Amino acid sequence: MSKYEAEISRRRTFAIISHPDAGKTTLTEKFLLYGGAIAQAGAVKGKKNARAATSDWMEIEKQRGISVTSSVMQFQYEGFCINILDTPGHQDFSEDTYRTLMAADSAVMVIDAAKGVEAQTRKLFKVCAMRDIPIFTFINKMDREARDPFELCEELEKELGIETYPVNWPIGCGKDFKGVYDRGRGEIIHFTSNGGAKAATATQVKLDDPNLDGLIGEKLHSQLTDDIELLDGAAAEFDMARVRHGKLSPVFFGSALTNFGVEPFLEEFLRMTTPPLPRMAGEELIDCMDDDFSAFVFKIQANMNKAHRDRIAFMRVVSGRFDADKEVYHVQGGKKLRLSRPQQLMAAEREIIEEAYAGDIIGVFDPGIFSIGDTLCAPGKKFRFDPIPTFAPEHFRRVRSLDTMKRKQFLKGMEQIAQEGAIQIFKTPYTGMEEVIVGVVGTLQFDVLEYRLKNEYGVDLYMEGLPYEYLRWIDTADGEPVKEEDLILGTDVKLVEDYKGRQLLLFGSQWAVGWTQERNPNLTFHEFGGAAG
Ligand code: G4P
Repeated sequence: MSKYEAEISRRRTFAIISHPDAGKTTLTEKFLLYGGAIAQAGAVKGKKNARAATSDWMEIEKQRGISVTSSVMQFQYEGFCINILDTPGHQDFSEDTYRTLMAADSAVMVIDAAKGVEAQTRKLFKVCAMRDIPIFTFINKMDREARDPFELCEELEKELGIETYPVNWPIGCGKDFKGVYDRGRGEIIHFTSNGGAKAATATQVKLDDPNLDGLIGEKLHSQLTDDIELLDGAAAEFDMARVRHGKLSPVFFGSALTNFGVEPFLEEFLRMTTPPLPRMAGEELIDCMDDDFSAFVFKIQANMNKAHRDRIAFMRVVSGRFDADKEVYHVQGGKKLRLSRPQQLMAAEREIIEEAYAGDIIGVFDPGIFSIGDTLCAPGKKFRFDPIPTFAPEHFRRVRSLDTMKRKQFLKGMEQIAQEGAIQIFKTPYTGMEEVIVGVVGTLQFDVLEYRLKNEYGVDLYMEGLPYEYLRWIDTADGEPVKEEDLILGTDVKLVEDYKGRQLLLFGSQWAVGWTQERNPNLTFHEFGGAAG
Protein backbone atom coordinates (compact mmCIF):
# COMPACT_ATOMS: atom_id res chain seq x y z
CA MET A 1 0.00 0.00 0.00
CA SER A 2 1.37 3.43 -0.91
CA LYS A 3 1.68 6.17 1.69
CA TYR A 4 -1.20 7.90 -0.02
CA GLU A 5 -3.48 4.86 0.28
CA ALA A 6 -2.38 4.26 3.84
CA GLU A 7 -3.25 7.84 4.80
CA ILE A 8 -6.77 7.50 3.40
CA SER A 9 -7.32 3.98 4.79
CA ARG A 10 -6.64 5.12 8.31
CA ARG A 11 -9.24 7.89 8.24
CA ARG A 12 -12.56 7.62 10.07
CA THR A 13 -15.05 10.48 9.94
CA PHE A 14 -18.09 10.36 12.15
CA ALA A 15 -20.68 12.53 13.86
CA ILE A 16 -21.84 12.20 17.43
CA ILE A 17 -25.56 12.69 17.85
CA SER A 18 -27.60 12.90 21.01
CA HIS A 19 -30.27 14.75 22.87
CA PRO A 20 -28.78 17.50 25.08
CA ASP A 21 -27.30 16.19 28.33
CA ALA A 22 -27.05 12.57 27.26
CA GLY A 23 -23.26 12.90 27.53
CA LYS A 24 -22.01 13.71 24.03
CA THR A 25 -19.46 16.27 25.23
CA THR A 26 -18.19 13.97 27.95
CA LEU A 27 -17.78 11.08 25.51
CA THR A 28 -16.06 13.29 22.92
CA GLU A 29 -13.72 14.50 25.58
CA LYS A 30 -12.79 10.96 26.57
CA PHE A 31 -12.03 10.14 22.95
CA LEU A 32 -9.79 13.18 22.69
CA LEU A 33 -8.05 12.23 25.91
CA TYR A 34 -7.25 8.75 24.58
CA GLY A 35 -5.94 10.29 21.40
CA GLY A 36 -3.78 12.70 23.36
CA ALA A 37 -5.43 15.66 21.61
CA ILE A 38 -6.23 17.24 24.95
CA ALA A 39 -4.30 16.86 28.14
CA GLN A 40 -7.01 17.06 30.73
CA ALA A 41 -10.68 16.50 31.24
CA GLY A 42 -12.66 19.71 31.10
CA ALA A 43 -10.93 21.13 28.04
CA VAL A 44 -13.92 20.47 25.82
CA LYS A 45 -16.54 20.48 28.50
CA GLY A 46 -17.20 23.49 30.67
CA LYS A 47 -18.82 24.73 27.50
CA LYS A 48 -20.60 27.53 29.29
CA ASN A 49 -17.36 29.47 29.69
CA ALA A 50 -14.46 27.76 28.03
CA ARG A 51 -16.02 27.33 24.64
CA ALA A 52 -16.89 30.97 24.22
CA ALA A 53 -13.30 31.77 25.06
CA THR A 54 -11.80 29.54 22.38
CA SER A 55 -14.23 30.34 19.64
CA ASP A 56 -15.10 33.98 19.32
CA TRP A 57 -16.43 33.53 15.85
CA MET A 58 -19.57 35.39 16.57
CA GLU A 59 -20.34 37.96 19.17
CA ILE A 60 -23.53 36.16 19.94
CA GLU A 61 -21.62 33.09 21.00
CA LYS A 62 -19.76 35.14 23.53
CA GLN A 63 -22.89 36.78 24.82
CA ARG A 64 -24.74 33.55 25.23
CA GLY A 65 -21.80 31.31 26.01
CA ILE A 66 -22.93 28.78 23.49
CA SER A 67 -21.55 27.44 20.29
CA VAL A 68 -23.71 28.42 17.35
CA THR A 69 -21.83 26.42 14.80
CA SER A 70 -20.98 22.79 14.63
CA SER A 71 -17.29 22.17 14.86
CA VAL A 72 -14.92 19.48 13.71
CA MET A 73 -12.13 17.89 15.66
CA GLN A 74 -9.31 15.70 14.45
CA PHE A 75 -7.17 13.39 16.54
CA GLN A 76 -5.00 10.29 16.22
CA TYR A 77 -5.67 7.01 17.99
CA GLU A 78 -3.78 3.73 17.51
CA GLY A 79 -2.81 4.57 13.96
CA PHE A 80 -6.24 5.91 12.99
CA CYS A 81 -6.82 9.51 12.04
CA ILE A 82 -10.22 10.38 13.42
CA ASN A 83 -12.44 13.30 12.45
CA ILE A 84 -15.30 13.94 14.85
CA LEU A 85 -18.10 16.18 13.70
CA ASP A 86 -19.91 17.79 16.58
CA THR A 87 -23.62 18.41 16.19
CA PRO A 88 -24.79 21.13 18.56
CA GLY A 89 -27.79 20.44 20.73
CA HIS A 90 -29.81 22.72 22.99
CA GLN A 91 -31.38 25.76 21.44
CA ASP A 92 -28.48 26.22 19.03
CA PHE A 93 -29.78 23.29 17.03
CA SER A 94 -29.96 24.37 13.41
CA GLU A 95 -29.97 23.28 9.82
CA ASP A 96 -26.17 23.27 10.06
CA THR A 97 -26.51 20.42 12.49
CA TYR A 98 -28.32 18.36 9.87
CA ARG A 99 -25.90 19.32 7.10
CA THR A 100 -22.95 18.31 9.20
CA LEU A 101 -24.31 14.78 9.06
CA MET A 102 -23.86 14.89 5.27
CA ALA A 103 -20.11 15.07 5.82
CA ALA A 104 -19.99 12.05 8.15
CA ASP A 105 -19.48 8.40 7.21
CA SER A 106 -21.02 6.99 10.35
CA ALA A 107 -22.74 8.19 13.49
CA VAL A 108 -22.41 7.51 17.18
CA MET A 109 -25.71 7.92 18.97
CA VAL A 110 -25.40 8.64 22.67
CA ILE A 111 -28.45 7.67 24.74
CA ASP A 112 -29.04 8.47 28.39
CA ALA A 113 -29.77 5.09 30.02
CA ALA A 114 -32.41 6.62 32.28
CA LYS A 115 -34.20 8.44 29.49
CA GLY A 116 -33.94 6.34 26.35
CA VAL A 117 -34.76 7.83 22.96
CA GLU A 118 -35.47 11.58 23.19
CA ALA A 119 -36.77 14.21 20.77
CA GLN A 120 -33.45 15.43 19.35
CA THR A 121 -32.12 11.89 18.98
CA ARG A 122 -35.15 11.08 16.90
CA LYS A 123 -34.64 14.07 14.55
CA LEU A 124 -30.93 13.49 14.04
CA PHE A 125 -31.41 9.78 13.62
CA LYS A 126 -33.85 10.40 10.78
CA VAL A 127 -31.19 12.26 8.82
CA CYS A 128 -28.60 9.52 9.46
CA ALA A 129 -31.07 6.86 8.37
CA MET A 130 -31.72 8.77 5.16
CA ARG A 131 -27.99 8.62 4.43
CA ASP A 132 -27.80 4.87 4.93
CA ILE A 133 -24.71 5.21 7.14
CA PRO A 134 -23.73 2.94 10.06
CA ILE A 135 -25.15 4.03 13.41
CA PHE A 136 -23.50 2.91 16.65
CA THR A 137 -25.30 3.28 19.96
CA PHE A 138 -23.59 4.12 23.24
CA ILE A 139 -26.00 3.80 26.17
CA ASN A 140 -24.47 6.12 28.70
CA LYS A 141 -24.69 6.84 32.43
CA MET A 142 -24.89 3.22 33.56
CA ASP A 143 -23.32 4.36 36.83
CA ARG A 144 -26.69 5.94 37.58
CA GLU A 145 -30.13 4.39 37.91
CA ALA A 146 -30.99 3.16 34.44
CA ARG A 147 -33.92 1.63 32.65
CA ASP A 148 -34.04 -2.07 31.90
CA PRO A 149 -31.56 -2.76 29.06
CA PHE A 150 -34.00 -4.99 27.17
CA GLU A 151 -36.58 -2.22 27.33
CA LEU A 152 -34.01 0.33 26.04
CA CYS A 153 -33.12 -1.85 23.05
CA GLU A 154 -36.76 -2.45 22.33
CA GLU A 155 -37.42 1.27 22.39
CA LEU A 156 -34.59 1.92 19.91
CA GLU A 157 -36.06 -0.68 17.59
CA LYS A 158 -39.63 0.51 17.91
CA GLU A 159 -39.08 4.25 17.89
CA LEU A 160 -36.27 4.46 15.38
CA GLY A 161 -36.97 1.42 13.28
CA ILE A 162 -33.42 0.06 13.50
CA GLU A 163 -32.49 -3.40 14.74
CA THR A 164 -30.05 -3.60 17.63
CA TYR A 165 -27.18 -5.90 18.42
CA PRO A 166 -25.86 -5.52 21.98
CA VAL A 167 -22.09 -5.98 21.74
CA ASN A 168 -21.89 -5.91 25.50
CA TRP A 169 -24.49 -6.20 28.23
CA PRO A 170 -24.64 -4.30 31.52
CA ILE A 171 -24.43 -5.95 34.90
CA GLY A 172 -26.58 -3.91 37.24
CA CYS A 173 -26.73 -0.13 37.21
CA GLY A 174 -26.33 2.84 39.53
CA LYS A 175 -24.70 1.92 42.82
CA ASP A 176 -24.85 -1.73 41.77
CA PHE A 177 -23.19 -1.24 38.40
CA LYS A 178 -20.60 -4.00 38.19
CA GLY A 179 -19.49 -3.74 34.59
CA VAL A 180 -20.42 -5.26 31.26
CA TYR A 181 -20.35 -8.68 29.68
CA ASP A 182 -18.54 -8.67 26.34
CA ARG A 183 -20.57 -11.07 24.21
CA GLY A 184 -17.93 -11.57 21.52
CA ARG A 185 -15.14 -12.45 23.93
CA GLY A 186 -17.36 -14.12 26.52
CA GLU A 187 -15.70 -12.02 29.20
CA ILE A 188 -16.78 -9.70 31.95
CA ILE A 189 -15.21 -6.30 32.14
CA HIS A 190 -15.48 -5.54 35.79
CA PHE A 191 -16.11 -1.97 36.86
CA THR A 192 -14.51 -0.62 39.98
CA SER A 193 -15.46 2.90 40.75
CA ASN A 194 -12.45 4.84 41.79
CA GLY A 195 -14.18 7.01 44.34
CA GLY A 196 -14.00 10.68 43.52
CA ALA A 197 -11.30 10.20 40.90
CA LYS A 198 -14.00 9.38 38.38
CA ALA A 199 -11.93 6.72 36.67
CA ALA A 200 -12.78 3.08 36.31
CA THR A 201 -10.38 0.20 36.22
CA ALA A 202 -11.46 -2.77 34.16
CA THR A 203 -10.60 -6.37 35.03
CA GLN A 204 -11.56 -9.05 32.57
CA VAL A 205 -13.08 -12.28 33.85
CA LYS A 206 -14.72 -15.23 32.08
CA LEU A 207 -18.40 -15.85 32.70
CA ASP A 208 -17.66 -19.29 34.17
CA ASP A 209 -14.89 -18.07 36.48
CA PRO A 210 -15.54 -19.47 39.97
CA ASN A 211 -14.65 -16.11 41.50
CA LEU A 212 -17.40 -14.33 39.63
CA ASP A 213 -19.96 -14.53 42.42
CA GLY A 214 -17.47 -12.78 44.62
CA LEU A 215 -17.06 -9.99 42.09
CA ILE A 216 -20.59 -9.22 41.05
CA GLY A 217 -22.67 -11.10 43.61
CA GLU A 218 -24.77 -14.22 43.22
CA LYS A 219 -27.93 -12.39 42.28
CA LEU A 220 -26.43 -10.34 39.42
CA HIS A 221 -24.52 -13.38 38.22
CA SER A 222 -27.66 -15.42 37.87
CA GLN A 223 -29.51 -12.54 36.23
CA LEU A 224 -26.65 -12.08 33.78
CA THR A 225 -26.71 -15.77 32.85
CA ASP A 226 -30.46 -15.52 32.19
CA ASP A 227 -30.10 -12.28 30.22
CA ILE A 228 -27.37 -13.67 28.01
CA GLU A 229 -29.37 -16.80 27.32
CA LEU A 230 -32.32 -14.68 26.34
CA LEU A 231 -30.18 -12.40 24.19
CA ASP A 232 -28.47 -15.25 22.38
CA GLY A 233 -31.83 -16.80 21.66
CA ALA A 234 -33.90 -13.76 20.75
CA ALA A 235 -31.76 -10.84 19.56
CA ALA A 236 -30.78 -10.21 15.96
CA GLU A 237 -27.72 -11.99 14.57
CA PHE A 238 -24.66 -9.85 14.05
CA ASP A 239 -24.43 -9.00 10.37
CA MET A 240 -21.73 -6.57 9.27
CA ALA A 241 -23.47 -5.82 5.97
CA ARG A 242 -26.55 -4.66 7.86
CA VAL A 243 -24.40 -2.58 10.21
CA ARG A 244 -22.73 -0.88 7.23
CA HIS A 245 -26.11 0.13 5.84
CA GLY A 246 -27.53 1.45 9.09
CA LYS A 247 -30.06 -1.36 9.43
CA LEU A 248 -28.50 -2.91 12.54
CA SER A 249 -26.98 -0.81 15.29
CA PRO A 250 -24.24 -2.29 17.49
CA VAL A 251 -25.14 -1.28 21.04
CA PHE A 252 -22.63 -0.64 23.84
CA PHE A 253 -23.35 0.12 27.48
CA GLY A 254 -21.02 2.25 29.54
CA SER A 255 -20.41 5.40 31.47
CA ALA A 256 -18.53 8.21 29.81
CA LEU A 257 -18.05 10.19 32.98
CA THR A 258 -16.36 7.37 34.88
CA ASN A 259 -14.54 6.32 31.73
CA PHE A 260 -16.12 2.92 31.76
CA GLY A 261 -16.53 1.11 28.46
CA VAL A 262 -15.34 4.07 26.40
CA GLU A 263 -12.08 2.63 25.13
CA PRO A 264 -13.53 -0.81 24.20
CA PHE A 265 -16.30 1.07 22.44
CA LEU A 266 -13.87 3.22 20.46
CA GLU A 267 -11.84 0.16 19.50
CA GLU A 268 -14.83 -1.86 18.31
CA PHE A 269 -16.18 1.18 16.53
CA LEU A 270 -12.92 1.66 14.62
CA ARG A 271 -12.83 -2.03 13.78
CA MET A 272 -16.37 -2.04 12.41
CA THR A 273 -16.29 1.20 10.42
CA THR A 274 -14.69 1.60 7.02
CA PRO A 275 -12.34 4.12 5.44
CA PRO A 276 -14.09 7.17 3.93
CA LEU A 277 -17.27 6.31 2.03
CA PRO A 278 -17.73 7.21 -1.62
CA ARG A 279 -20.20 9.89 -2.74
CA MET A 280 -22.47 10.03 -5.77
CA ALA A 281 -22.00 12.67 -8.46
CA GLY A 282 -24.92 12.04 -10.82
CA GLU A 283 -24.24 8.65 -12.37
CA GLU A 284 -20.66 8.54 -11.15
CA LEU A 285 -19.48 7.12 -7.85
CA ILE A 286 -16.48 9.05 -6.53
CA ASP A 287 -14.31 6.77 -4.41
CA CYS A 288 -11.97 7.97 -1.68
CA MET A 289 -9.02 6.25 -3.38
CA ASP A 290 -9.49 8.04 -6.70
CA ASP A 291 -6.26 9.74 -7.66
CA ASP A 292 -7.74 13.19 -8.01
CA PHE A 293 -8.81 15.55 -5.28
CA SER A 294 -12.51 16.29 -4.85
CA ALA A 295 -14.59 17.84 -2.08
CA PHE A 296 -17.99 19.37 -1.41
CA VAL A 297 -19.01 22.36 0.68
CA PHE A 298 -21.42 21.43 3.47
CA LYS A 299 -21.37 24.50 5.61
CA ILE A 300 -20.58 28.19 5.33
CA GLN A 301 -19.88 30.38 8.28
CA ALA A 302 -19.84 34.10 7.62
CA ASN A 303 -18.38 37.01 9.48
CA MET A 304 -16.12 35.05 11.75
CA ASN A 305 -14.20 38.25 11.94
CA LYS A 306 -16.47 41.24 11.55
CA ALA A 307 -13.70 43.62 10.51
CA HIS A 308 -12.98 41.54 7.44
CA ARG A 309 -16.44 40.35 6.55
CA ASP A 310 -14.86 36.98 6.05
CA ARG A 311 -16.55 33.72 5.38
CA ILE A 312 -15.23 30.24 5.92
CA ALA A 313 -16.48 27.41 3.72
CA PHE A 314 -16.22 23.99 5.32
CA MET A 315 -15.67 21.16 2.92
CA ARG A 316 -15.45 17.44 3.16
CA VAL A 317 -12.66 15.91 1.09
CA VAL A 318 -14.24 13.00 -0.80
CA SER A 319 -11.31 11.70 -2.80
CA GLY A 320 -7.59 12.13 -3.17
CA ARG A 321 -5.29 14.49 -1.44
CA PHE A 322 -5.65 18.20 -0.96
CA ASP A 323 -2.48 20.16 -1.49
CA ALA A 324 -2.51 23.84 -0.53
CA ASP A 325 -0.18 24.73 -3.39
CA LYS A 326 -2.27 23.20 -6.15
CA GLU A 327 -5.13 24.72 -8.06
CA VAL A 328 -8.57 23.17 -7.86
CA TYR A 329 -11.61 23.59 -10.07
CA HIS A 330 -14.77 25.08 -8.56
CA VAL A 331 -17.47 23.49 -10.68
CA GLN A 332 -20.41 25.76 -9.84
CA GLY A 333 -18.28 28.89 -10.27
CA GLY A 334 -16.68 27.54 -13.46
CA LYS A 335 -13.24 28.71 -12.31
CA LYS A 336 -9.86 27.36 -11.34
CA LEU A 337 -8.65 28.66 -8.01
CA ARG A 338 -6.29 28.12 -5.15
CA LEU A 339 -7.99 27.55 -1.81
CA SER A 340 -6.71 30.10 0.61
CA ARG A 341 -5.83 29.73 4.25
CA PRO A 342 -6.98 26.11 4.50
CA GLN A 343 -7.42 25.20 8.11
CA GLN A 344 -8.40 22.35 10.31
CA LEU A 345 -9.62 22.19 13.86
CA MET A 346 -7.60 20.22 16.33
CA ALA A 347 -9.68 19.91 19.45
CA ALA A 348 -10.35 23.56 20.23
CA GLU A 349 -7.63 25.09 18.10
CA ARG A 350 -7.55 26.02 14.47
CA GLU A 351 -4.41 25.57 12.47
CA ILE A 352 -3.38 26.24 8.91
CA ILE A 353 -2.69 23.05 7.00
CA GLU A 354 -0.73 22.15 3.89
CA GLU A 355 -2.41 18.88 3.02
CA ALA A 356 -5.51 16.87 3.77
CA TYR A 357 -6.83 13.51 2.62
CA ALA A 358 -10.16 11.97 1.70
CA GLY A 359 -12.27 11.87 4.85
CA ASP A 360 -10.88 15.10 6.27
CA ILE A 361 -12.79 18.31 6.79
CA ILE A 362 -11.11 21.55 5.88
CA GLY A 363 -12.26 25.13 6.27
CA VAL A 364 -11.13 27.60 3.63
CA PHE A 365 -11.41 31.33 3.34
CA ASP A 366 -14.35 32.13 1.07
CA PRO A 367 -14.45 35.49 -0.70
CA GLY A 368 -18.18 34.95 -1.28
CA ILE A 369 -18.00 32.48 -4.14
CA PHE A 370 -19.11 29.25 -2.54
CA SER A 371 -22.58 27.93 -1.82
CA ILE A 372 -23.66 24.93 0.21
CA GLY A 373 -23.35 21.79 -1.88
CA ASP A 374 -20.69 23.14 -4.30
CA THR A 375 -18.17 20.74 -5.77
CA LEU A 376 -14.40 21.23 -5.97
CA CYS A 377 -12.34 18.87 -8.05
CA ALA A 378 -9.15 18.55 -10.02
CA PRO A 379 -8.83 20.89 -13.02
CA GLY A 380 -10.10 19.08 -16.08
CA LYS A 381 -12.88 17.27 -14.20
CA LYS A 382 -16.41 18.61 -14.15
CA PHE A 383 -18.64 16.32 -12.08
CA ARG A 384 -20.99 17.67 -9.44
CA PHE A 385 -21.71 15.93 -6.18
CA ASP A 386 -25.37 15.25 -5.55
CA PRO A 387 -26.99 18.23 -3.83
CA ILE A 388 -27.31 18.45 -0.08
CA PRO A 389 -30.99 18.31 0.79
CA THR A 390 -32.79 21.27 2.31
CA PHE A 391 -34.23 20.28 5.65
CA ALA A 392 -37.70 21.28 6.66
CA PRO A 393 -37.71 24.17 9.15
CA GLU A 394 -39.87 23.79 12.23
CA HIS A 395 -40.31 27.40 13.32
CA PHE A 396 -41.66 30.24 11.23
CA ARG A 397 -41.88 34.01 11.56
CA ARG A 398 -43.11 36.83 9.39
CA VAL A 399 -40.23 39.28 9.06
CA ARG A 400 -39.84 42.78 7.65
CA SER A 401 -37.66 45.83 8.14
CA LEU A 402 -38.95 48.28 10.75
CA ASP A 403 -37.73 51.11 8.58
CA THR A 404 -39.29 50.84 5.12
CA MET A 405 -36.47 52.97 3.68
CA LYS A 406 -34.04 50.16 4.37
CA ARG A 407 -35.72 47.72 2.03
CA LYS A 408 -32.59 47.22 -0.08
CA GLN A 409 -30.31 46.38 2.84
CA PHE A 410 -33.04 44.18 4.27
CA LEU A 411 -33.25 42.13 1.10
CA LYS A 412 -29.49 41.92 0.69
CA GLY A 413 -29.01 40.74 4.26
CA MET A 414 -31.84 38.23 4.12
CA GLU A 415 -30.62 36.78 0.84
CA GLN A 416 -27.03 36.57 2.01
CA ILE A 417 -27.97 34.78 5.21
CA ALA A 418 -30.38 32.50 3.40
CA GLN A 419 -27.60 31.66 0.93
CA GLU A 420 -25.37 30.59 3.77
CA GLY A 421 -28.19 28.27 4.68
CA ALA A 422 -28.72 29.45 8.26
CA ILE A 423 -32.33 30.33 7.50
CA GLN A 424 -34.80 29.64 4.72
CA ILE A 425 -36.92 32.40 3.30
CA PHE A 426 -40.35 32.03 1.76
CA LYS A 427 -42.94 34.32 0.27
CA THR A 428 -46.62 34.00 -0.32
CA PRO A 429 -47.69 34.08 -3.96
CA TYR A 430 -48.60 37.56 -5.24
CA THR A 431 -46.70 39.42 -2.53
CA GLY A 432 -43.38 41.07 -3.08
CA MET A 433 -40.32 40.79 -0.94
CA GLU A 434 -41.27 43.62 1.44
CA GLU A 435 -42.09 40.94 3.89
CA VAL A 436 -40.80 37.40 4.00
CA ILE A 437 -41.57 34.29 5.96
CA VAL A 438 -38.47 32.97 7.61
CA GLY A 439 -38.22 29.32 8.54
CA VAL A 440 -35.54 27.87 10.79
CA VAL A 441 -34.71 24.48 12.26
CA GLY A 442 -33.75 25.89 15.69
CA THR A 443 -35.20 29.09 17.20
CA LEU A 444 -31.79 30.50 18.07
CA GLN A 445 -31.39 31.27 14.39
CA PHE A 446 -34.01 34.04 14.78
CA ASP A 447 -31.76 35.75 17.34
CA VAL A 448 -28.76 35.27 15.08
CA LEU A 449 -30.75 36.73 12.18
CA GLU A 450 -31.88 39.76 14.18
CA TYR A 451 -28.39 40.35 15.49
CA ARG A 452 -26.70 40.02 12.14
CA LEU A 453 -29.19 42.18 10.25
CA LYS A 454 -28.64 44.94 12.76
CA ASN A 455 -24.87 44.61 13.03
CA GLU A 456 -23.95 43.85 9.48
CA TYR A 457 -26.67 45.60 7.50
CA GLY A 458 -27.97 48.26 9.89
CA VAL A 459 -31.52 46.94 9.71
CA ASP A 460 -33.89 46.56 12.67
CA LEU A 461 -36.36 43.77 12.17
CA TYR A 462 -40.00 43.36 12.98
CA MET A 463 -40.78 39.71 13.60
CA GLU A 464 -44.05 38.00 14.30
CA GLY A 465 -44.43 34.33 15.18
CA LEU A 466 -46.47 32.12 12.87
CA PRO A 467 -48.28 29.02 14.09
CA TYR A 468 -46.70 26.57 11.64
CA GLU A 469 -44.48 23.67 12.58
CA TYR A 470 -44.36 21.41 9.57
CA LEU A 471 -43.44 21.96 5.98
CA ARG A 472 -43.67 19.87 2.84
CA TRP A 473 -42.37 20.74 -0.59
CA ILE A 474 -45.02 19.83 -3.14
CA ASP A 475 -45.02 18.42 -6.65
CA THR A 476 -47.93 17.94 -8.99
CA ALA A 477 -48.34 15.06 -11.42
CA ASP A 478 -47.97 17.36 -14.45
CA GLY A 479 -45.18 19.44 -12.93
CA GLU A 480 -47.22 22.66 -13.23
CA PRO A 481 -47.47 25.04 -10.25
CA VAL A 482 -50.69 24.75 -8.28
CA LYS A 483 -53.14 27.59 -7.59
CA GLU A 484 -54.37 28.09 -4.07
CA GLU A 485 -58.01 28.02 -5.20
CA ASP A 486 -57.54 24.55 -6.68
CA LEU A 487 -56.44 23.07 -3.37
CA ILE A 488 -58.49 21.92 -0.41
CA LEU A 489 -56.70 23.46 2.54
CA GLY A 490 -57.64 23.73 6.21
CA THR A 491 -57.31 26.99 8.13
CA ASP A 492 -53.91 26.09 9.57
CA VAL A 493 -52.29 25.43 6.20
CA LYS A 494 -50.54 28.00 4.00
CA LEU A 495 -49.22 27.82 0.46
CA VAL A 496 -45.84 29.56 -0.01
CA GLU A 497 -42.86 29.54 -2.36
CA ASP A 498 -39.20 29.32 -1.53
CA TYR A 499 -36.99 31.83 -3.23
CA LYS A 500 -36.11 29.41 -5.97
CA GLY A 501 -39.79 29.38 -6.84
CA ARG A 502 -40.56 25.89 -5.51
CA GLN A 503 -43.97 25.60 -3.92
CA LEU A 504 -44.57 24.28 -0.49
CA LEU A 505 -47.17 24.04 2.22
CA LEU A 506 -46.84 25.06 5.85
CA PHE A 507 -48.89 23.20 8.43
CA GLY A 508 -49.90 23.86 12.00
CA SER A 509 -49.86 20.20 12.98
CA GLN A 510 -48.72 16.78 11.89
CA TRP A 511 -52.37 15.90 11.70
CA ALA A 512 -52.96 18.65 9.11
CA VAL A 513 -50.21 17.15 6.93
CA GLY A 514 -52.11 13.88 6.68
CA TRP A 515 -55.50 15.59 6.28
CA THR A 516 -54.21 17.76 3.42
CA GLN A 517 -52.51 14.88 1.65
CA GLU A 518 -55.70 12.82 1.80
CA ARG A 519 -57.82 15.58 0.30
CA ASN A 520 -55.29 16.57 -2.39
CA PRO A 521 -54.20 13.23 -3.83
CA ASN A 522 -52.72 14.93 -6.91
CA LEU A 523 -49.92 16.40 -4.77
CA THR A 524 -46.72 14.60 -3.79
CA PHE A 525 -45.20 15.74 -0.51
CA HIS A 526 -41.44 15.87 0.16
CA GLU A 527 -39.95 16.31 3.59
CA PHE A 528 -36.52 17.24 2.26
CA GLY A 529 -36.13 19.81 -0.50
CA GLY A 530 -33.61 19.48 -3.34
CA ALA A 531 -30.43 21.51 -3.25
CA ALA A 532 -29.75 23.78 -0.31
CA GLY A 533 -29.38 27.52 -0.55
P1 G4P B 1 -24.19 16.76 26.19
O1 G4P B 1 -22.91 17.18 25.56
O2 G4P B 1 -24.81 15.56 25.51
O3 G4P B 1 -25.17 17.87 26.38
O4 G4P B 1 -23.88 16.21 27.67
P2 G4P B 1 -22.62 16.42 28.61
O5 G4P B 1 -21.49 15.58 28.16
O6 G4P B 1 -22.40 17.87 28.82
O7 G4P B 1 -23.19 15.74 29.93
C1 G4P B 1 -24.35 16.21 30.59
C2 G4P B 1 -24.27 15.92 32.07
O8 G4P B 1 -24.25 14.51 32.28
C3 G4P B 1 -23.00 16.46 32.71
O9 G4P B 1 -23.32 16.81 34.05
C4 G4P B 1 -22.09 15.26 32.72
O10 G4P B 1 -21.10 15.32 33.71
C5 G4P B 1 -23.08 14.14 32.99
N1 G4P B 1 -22.62 12.83 32.49
C6 G4P B 1 -22.11 12.53 31.28
N2 G4P B 1 -21.80 11.22 31.21
C7 G4P B 1 -22.13 10.68 32.40
C8 G4P B 1 -22.03 9.37 32.94
O11 G4P B 1 -21.58 8.42 32.33
N3 G4P B 1 -22.46 9.22 34.23
C9 G4P B 1 -22.97 10.24 34.96
N4 G4P B 1 -23.35 9.98 36.19
N5 G4P B 1 -23.06 11.50 34.48
C10 G4P B 1 -22.65 11.71 33.21
P3 G4P B 1 -23.59 18.29 34.49
O12 G4P B 1 -23.88 18.23 35.93
O13 G4P B 1 -24.61 18.92 33.60
O14 G4P B 1 -22.26 19.02 34.18
P4 G4P B 1 -20.94 19.03 35.01
O15 G4P B 1 -21.30 19.69 36.29
O16 G4P B 1 -20.50 17.59 35.20
O17 G4P B 1 -20.00 19.81 34.17
